[in-house]
Amino acid sequence: MTAVHPSEQPAGVSETIAAGRILPVVVLDDARDAAPLGAALTAGGLRSVEVTFRTDAAADAIRVMSEDPDLFVGAGTVLTPAQVDEAVAAGARFIVSPGFSPRVVAHCQQVGVPVFPGAATPTEIQMAIDAGLDTVKFFPAGQLGGTTMIKALAAPFRSVRFIPTGGVNTDNLRDYLSLPAVLAVGGTWMVAPSLLAEGRWDDVTTLTAAAVTAAREI
Ligand code: 3PG
Repeated sequence: MTAVHPSEQPAGVSETIAAGRILPVVVLDDARDAAPLGAALTAGGLRSVEVTFRTDAAADAIRVMSEDPDLFVGAGTVLTPAQVDEAVAAGARFIVSPGFSPRVVAHCQQVGVPVFPGAATPTEIQMAIDAGLDTVKFFPAGQLGGTTMIKALAAPFRSVRFIPTGGVNTDNLRDYLSLPAVLAVGGTWMVAPSLLAEGRWDDVTTLTAAAVTAAREI
């Protein structure tokens, strides 16, 4: 199969994610929430969004959000090649996985969709480099040692960029984003499950705007 957006090179995707600096990690139980959630995020000033395959609603949510030209939608928590295909068919522009799966990475490269696998150790980072990648998700960032660990990893791996996710919030995102090795940060704090369950779209916008403002202060 071919990717939905075959003309798009990974570098362009990285630049789009880097421009926003913040990647909301979304867990949606009901695809009917995808449109209002997308609107709430763009109203807060964000464009990129990662919709995770932790729920059955993921593919439909990606499909709905991808129809919004203001949104740049990727799929997260992608654990299998089959999920890569499902995500790409739904319109995902990039793939994120929590760990490094050679199978998932190879399949993404085969279908031509940019992939950001998790890499938490020097060995996993070298696997990513061997696979031709230059950007990895760093998850779970807080538990792995946060900025201290990223600085230590960035010393030998000078060309690698990280997307720390896990434990990032508006209070600490500047610490991460001020590191040259950090491309963007990811997290759920502006799209917390309780906000989505209660349809508190204004709160999503407020939290998103606060995060965007904090990121701009660097
Ligand atoms: C992820 O999937 O990337 C993390 O669960 C997000 O972590 P957070 O909830 O601490 O932001």
